[in-house]
Amino acid sequence: MLTGKRILIGITGGIAAYKIPQLIRDFKKTGSDIRVVMTDSAKEFVTPLTLSTVSGDEVIIGTFPEQSSGILNAGTWHITLAQWADAMLIAPATANTIAKIAHGYADNAVTILALAMRCPVIISPSMDTDMWLRSTTQQNINTLREAGYIVLPPAEGELASGLTGTGRLPDLPRIQKAVEDILGSNRKDFLGKKILVSAGPTYEPIDPVRYIGNRSSGKMGFAIANAATQRGADVTLVAGHVHLQTPRNVKRVNVETALQMYTAMMKHHKGMDVTIMAAAVADFTPITASNKKIKKNKSKSNRFIIETRETKDILQHLGSIKDRDILVGFAVETDNEINNAKSKLKDKNLDLIVLNNPLSEGAGFDTDTNIVTIISNGGKIQKLKKMSKHEVAHAILNRVSKLF
Ligand SMILES: Cc1cc2nc3c(=O)[nH]c(=O)nc-3n(C[C@H](O)[C@H](O)[C@H](O)COP(=O)(O)O)c2cc1C
Repeated sequence: MLTGKRILIGITGGIAAYKIPQLIRDFKKTGSDIRVVMTDSAKEFVTPLTLSTVSGDEVIIGTFPEQSSGILNAGTWHITLAQWADAMLIAPATANTIAKIAHGYADNAVTILALAMRCPVIISPSMDTDMWLRSTTQQNINTLREAGYIVLPPAEGELASGLTGTGRLPDLPRIQKAVEDILGSNRKDFLGKKILVSAGPTYEPIDPVRYIGNRSSGKMGFAIANAATQRGADVTLVAGHVHLQTPRNVKRVNVETALQMYTAMMKHHKGMDVTIMAAAVADFTPITASNKKIKKNKSKSNRFIIETRETKDILQHLGSIKDRDILVGFAVETDNEINNAKSKLKDKNLDLIVLNNPLSEGAGFDTDTNIVTIISNGGKIQKLKKMSKHEVAHAILNRVSKLF
């Protein structure tokens, strides 16, 4: 898979930098071609000599490297390298470099290339737990994801400081596998395919200021839309109310209520090769929505009763009109998960169902990771371990592509 692939590794000044020479050796064994760039701080943790020895090429440090050999002959070495690579991996990525890339800084070899790259850029943060959990770091990570960077969540365990927590560089085989998956998914196996994806929650109005909603962030559906467009698909994304940037080349249709989502899905479903229903559609909607803000109840009962009715079942309807197109649904189950998901798969005439349990840590709504099981109508059950929503999206698309 990695044979002949050109991988640019950016190293920054984190303690885990000492592991990167081994990672480079592992990549080289797969037949991939490696180039290394590093920040000045990274030199404190691993020497350029070690890196150039294991990678077999000169290492670029700083913005204006002095060497005049090879790729550096070209003054615009950053553009040459950006066009050379099939993928860039930044590992370890410090909080400092993450903040810089999130804000568009380009003041050293790593940040310039992170900005100039056309290929996938995979960022593998590694730092102390408190640095990782700090709201500024988390906001920067969200910004990176929304800008299309792929962030590998750090692992949990013992840290260099002796403390235990989240922030470790993932094990090297895990990083290598992630790069391999991303490069594998870089193939255009969805070229010419039309995909409809739904994402996010629906809001059912009670009055002009209140609604019944749910905790869906839309991240899973947006990750699928993003992955599908990277793999060459023509993607339409029907999105509920979310705070996410539309992935590049994706047509986005915004909706608010379950009824609007139903109408949009029916309108765009015609002619699609694949429909993936990742939205969390409300099951019930208020029978009437007041057009004025409802005042606090002055009666003694202290109660306010909202009468609701069931919304239209979009997935059921898509299953009933399904022809040769592929239909994928999601199931959120908290008990008897596999059996409930299998029943839903059958009842709704789906090809695949993606099951998750939001009660598991690292799964479900508003997380950046998910733990899913993919079940096919042929009965195949594929349990996946905790992975980023980007990786889950590709795993789902891998299963879909086998059905073409
Ligand atoms: C011993 C030591 C270990 C460090 N380890 C990390 C680390 O693992 N992750 C991190 O984000 N910063 C770490 N830092 C802080 C960074 O080295 C510092 O923020 C530096 O400015 C990063 O520069 P760069 O992002 O340009 O490489 C460490 C600092 C020291 C002194």
